Amino acid sequence: MKRGKQAVIKRYEQVANGLAEQIEQGVYLPGERLPGVRRLSKQFSVSISTIMQAHQLLEDRGLIQARPRSGYYVRTSVWQAPEQPAMTNPKPKPARITGQQMAMQLSQATRQPGMIQLGAAIPHHSFLPTRAINRALLAVTRHQQRRSARYEFPPGSAELRQQIARRMLDAGCQVAPSKIVITSGCQEALALCLRAVAKTGDIIALESPTFYGLLQVVESLGLKALEIPTHPQHGISLDALKLAIEQWPIKACAIVGNFNNPMGYCMPDSNKQALVKLLRQHHIPLIEDDVYGDLAFDHHRPIAAKSFDTDGSVLYCSSFSKTLSPGLRVGWVVPGKYQEQIEYQKYITSLATPTLPQLAIADFLQRGSYDRYLRQVRGQYARQVAQITQAVSKHFPEGTKVTRPVGGFVIWIELLEGADALVIFDKALAKGISIAPGPIFSATQKYGNFIRINCAQPWDDRLEAAILFLGKLAHRRPSS
Ligand SMILES: Cc1ncc(COP(=O)(O)O)c(C=O)c1O
Repeated sequence: MKRGKQAVIKRYEQVANGLAEQIEQGVYLPGERLPGVRRLSKQFSVSISTIMQAHQLLEDRGLIQARPRSGYYVRTSVWQAPEQPAMTNPKPKPARITGQQMAMQLSQATRQPGMIQLGAAIPHHSFLPTRAINRALLAVTRHQQRRSARYEFPPGSAELRQQIARRMLDAGCQVAPSKIVITSGCQEALALCLRAVAKTGDIIALESPTFYGLLQVVESLGLKALEIPTHPQHGISLDALKLAIEQWPIKACAIVGNFNNPMGYCMPDSNKQALVKLLRQHHIPLIEDDVYGDLAFDHHRPIAAKSFDTDGSVLYCSSFSKTLSPGLRVGWVVPGKYQEQIEYQKYITSLATPTLPQLAIADFLQRGSYDRYLRQVRGQYARQVAQITQAVSKHFPEGTKVTRPVGGFVIWIELLEGADALVIFDKALAKGISIAPGPIFSATQKYGNFIRINCAQPWDDRLEAAILFLGKLAHRRPSS
């Protein structure tokens, strides 16, 4: 694996951070106007366009707001962001997974008309480039009629693999198109990887909390989950993982390192590198789920752990479900040395991924509109997360803790001790609001007083009323 570009802080981010610090220190107070662009450009010795990019970033973070023909002002409601949850502390013992059927209720809730979808991590259609995707689908049906009716046996469409190989350079990975296998979404990619590297009874090390879809696959394959303590900003604890490796015969490790679901952190590059090295020393494959990697709030695509892979022991999984369309069901794996097993597993599972969506996505990517779309939607998600976090800090009891994601679109909320996420889940569902209760993110049903909220829903009065209602539920004692 050759390394591509490393993440570097861009000038406009440095300017934005400088201005944010000045706001925090009270140099500019809520409601006050920031100096004009020319003055700031002199102050920071940067171009006017850099200042404008910094303004956009601060606006996305919810710190400042533009007033037409007047300039940028510090938001009057610059709010005290709630405290973040602490490092997690799961039981250091492999466990068979139970209770994952509940996660099915979340997907069922998405089918109910009128439901406020704060549960499943699915973007509302208004955030997706559905029209452009439909145009690409039409173009393919018109121009590639025969081709789109044929099987695209593994590894999948060559056009799409070439486009993905180009995009993977942004994640620091130089991968030949022939080393990519197209799958039906990231969920299938994860299942194929686990099947390729482990068999019944094997132990898989996971972040805690972790994405419930991963737990469901681990459960269905009869594997055991070993939940590793995880920091809300830095990700899986490498010290805890080291100890666990000494104690247990871990067969594989699976992480969502970039804009983690549910905690929203981005693992520092140095941790990704150390993780890959540690696992390589112990001959443990790493399954990396990077499905949110393109959704950085600071418009900076983080590198993947895969970029540190030197011997093909990192299996990289992703999809277009969080960016282009969950319904097209197109994802991929870069399986490293497990290529043959993954192609075979894909073939015996479903023969092939449907051809039409593969060709349509290849067409969309080839037209070059993906980056433009990403620039826009990243800002939207940053604003959504800021707005919903603000509403939670307003309507939930004091002492409620909320993660501070740096990408993606979910927040993880720690309610007061004694609050019961499952009771809140039932009561909210009865009121037409779906949320994801904490226990489904754990093999051993920890996180009984946590909930996850999907912020990719348009902000309106109904949504604010839903947060207010959840806040009221969070105030109640479990028995009331
Ligand atoms: C971390 C993570 N991985 C994988 C998936 C599933 O992705 P797909 O819809 O592409 O199968 C999700 C969806 O919620 C997710 O959050």
